[in-house]
Amino acid sequence: MSFGYNISLLDPIHSFLKCETPDLWIEEAKKPSNLSAILSDHLVCELKAAQSAMYLIRRYAVDEQSGDALLQWLKPFEDFTYRQQGDWRLLAGLTLKKSMIPKSNSAYGQDLIDKMVLLIKEELHHFYQVLEIMHQFGVEYDKITSSRYARGLLRHVSTYEPNALIDKLICGAYIEARSCERFAKIAPLLPKEIGDFYLSLLRSEARHYQDYLTLAQEIAGEDINDRIAFFADVEAELILTPDDNFKFHSGIPA
Ligand SMILES: [Fe+2]
Ligand SMILES: [Fe+2]
Repeated sequence: MSFGYNISLLDPIHSFLKCETPDLWIEEAKKPSNLSAILSDHLVCELKAAQSAMYLIRRYAVDEQSGDALLQWLKPFEDFTYRQQGDWRLLAGLTLKKSMIPKSNSAYGQDLIDKMVLLIKEELHHFYQVLEIMHQFGVEYDKITSSRYARGLLRHVSTYEPNALIDKLICGAYIEARSCERFAKIAPLLPKEIGDFYLSLLRSEARHYQDYLTLAQEIAGEDINDRIAFFADVEAELILTPDDNFKFHSGIPA
């Protein structure tokens, strides 16, 4: 039987994460009554992934002007998600022109821009693909409350540089890795079109996790394993403790 992806893709992710998703979360996620919650939250997660990569470029790699130009790229996606404005089908054609990609004069700045621009492109494409699936399954997007997960990780970010940047990159790696692990776990339990879509996401999300980690290591220029281990514990606690707000990244359903 073919899974449509290489199992070894998940090996580094399983060793990076301190725990696997608990069965109780999976039981909840496969309930047809939660399909709309999963898809709506997934949609928002794709946008948030693009937004946080955009934030990193603007905060760390480019001047204000090129940062603002780049920001315009996200606006129609944000208008749709937060203000219910615009036709979702038109979002498909909104790609970034090569000339809009800013340059940085530092080596790490350029690597950050290159990796993050590619990541934003892919997340916005995923965003559109989630909308297509929602349309196909008759799921209306409804504004949803935010989950504790990303907030729970980011509140441990250092307050001084360059540690703050390194911590944010490590958090990015955890969010991507957990998403990848959960996509693989629930894919076989969801309707076939959604399962196939989730499996198709594994490859890029696994690369996103790796890109964040590589950047963190490059920028730190020293061993960051202690910091990774610290966030591994924080992340596992968010996954393994009771959480009454069922979301794509929530803890054990309370
Ligand atoms: Fe994504
Ligand atoms: Fe991603």
